[in-house]
Amino acid sequence: MFHETPKPILEQMAALEEQDAKDRIDGTPMHKRLRQIPAETGQLLALLAASAPSGLCIELGTSAGYSGLWLSLAMAQRGGKLVTFELLPEKAEMARKTFKKAKVEELIELVNGDARGHVSQYDEIAFCFMDTEKEMYPDLYDLVVPRLLPGGLLLADNLTSHAEALAEFREKVRADSRVDSVLIPIGSGVLLCRKRRSN
Ligand SMILES: C[S@@+](CC[C@H](N)C(=O)[O-])C[C@H]1O[C@@H](n2cnc3c(N)ncnc32)[C@H](O)[C@@H]1O
Repeated sequence: MFHETPKPILEQMAALEEQDAKDRIDGTPMHKRLRQIPAETGQLLALLAASAPSGLCIELGTSAGYSGLWLSLAMAQRGGKLVTFELLPEKAEMARKTFKKAKVEELIELVNGDARGHVSQYDEIAFCFMDTEKEMYPDLYDLVVPRLLPGGLLLADNLTSHAEALAEFREKVRADSRVDSVLIPIGSGVLLCRKRRSN
């Protein structure tokens, strides 16, 4: 997967990495910044999405499409399309351009809207990456977990970087007997949950 990443994808990844690094130091306001995952988190996402059971793959919080590019590597192996949700029209437009330039449009369906109003339309979710505003995590989690397939994976980002803001959410997940979970200290801290087969 990482050994034969197509050049248009590598080029878009590099361009977004450059812009994200610039955003972080030049005073760009929060809602305009890309706020994307680091590459090592992207690699983790791609490996886990490629290894998830067959079923639907979704992403909550697209930004300009950087994490979506990593997930497209898994989709090329799995078949099917990643469905990714972005609230802000200007970010969705950036992501649309990213996916076009990277030539991964056939692997990704981009939905411009609030993921909270869309997730209930989907079922048999095999993989979900959650990376929206942190206060939305509990509501989104409650929408996704009942729709996860047995053995399905849900990953939530920023559990270390936003540890205080997400402490209650972390406890909620820990106490949820529908999933097994572990916090992976990679990038900003990824909480990995796996739906149990029966309980
Ligand atoms: C941290 S950024 C996502 C970064 C992206 N996953 C990446 O690594 O390239 C969060 C994004 O989630 C979007 N967002 C926030 N709340 C949302 C919601 N309820 N539904 C969909 N997108 C949302 C924001 O507009 C922002 O672009």
